[in-house]
Amino acid sequence: MKPKMVIGNWKMNKSFEEADDLIIAIGEQIAGLRLETGVVLCPPFLYLELATDQAQEADFTVGAQNCSEFKNGAVTGEISAEMLAELGVEFCIIGHSERRKFFNESNDTIAQKTNILLENQLVPVVCCGEVIEERKVNRHFEVVEKQIKESLFHLSKEDFESVVIAYEPVWAIGTGETATPEQAEEMHAFIRQLIEKRYGTETAYAAYILYGGSCNAQNALDLFAKPNVDGGLIGGASLKANEFVAIIEAAETVIKEN
Ligand code: PGA
Repeated sequence: MKPKMVIGNWKMNKSFEEADDLIIAIGEQIAGLRLETGVVLCPPFLYLELATDQAQEADFTVGAQNCSEFKNGAVTGEISAEMLAELGVEFCIIGHSERRKFFNESNDTIAQKTNILLENQLVPVVCCGEVIEERKVNRHFEVVEKQIKESLFHLSKEDFESVVIAYEPVWAIGTGETATPEQAEEMHAFIRQLIEKRYGTETAYAAYILYGGSCNAQNALDLFAKPNVDGGLIGGASLKANEFVAIIEAAETVIKEN
């Protein structure tokens, strides 16, 4: 089993001071753990520099939660991939269901954001996932396939290998209702098959496919133990150092046992 990855998506939470405290607390708690798990913190834009400053001495890297699909110029209110790269940010979440819902982000926009992130050597963390109505009528595979194909499959093999995918069933985000480990595994295996068909076995095996949606310290171990679940994209449970570090420890446990 390859090392896991655990990404904390803070969303629009924390004051400046609270963010500083949380970044320091997580850094302290994981120091000396000799982690194999890749840890990424994604605070709001305004706190990214706090995180990149700390990341120089700590065992985590830093991601943003969004970026503009445009290179630069007259795009009021946006943040470019180039700006993120300059700050030392290494990852960027894109296509999150909240952005698809509140900001009408389409697969096409997500494809453009993927491209611009890769041009700036950032790792796109591309989210996909169905809403409950789609799962109820058994359309979840079809929906996720379309999202992945339209936002990622234009990439060359080399570029695709720099992308992380996060499967986040929308009905499980922030609801306390988690996909069962079996449901997650089933979808992750399906996504890996899609990758295999498009880019070959090696690329499919190496691809990181994270699970997100009410993942917490209690359920992380069972989810991460599934062979196709390469880690987690953690929302609510990433806002408390103890809870987030417990999830990282679950990832370490799975790796050590396999
Ligand atoms: P949640 O959010 O863990 O709070 O469900 C996950 C996400 O939206 O990335």
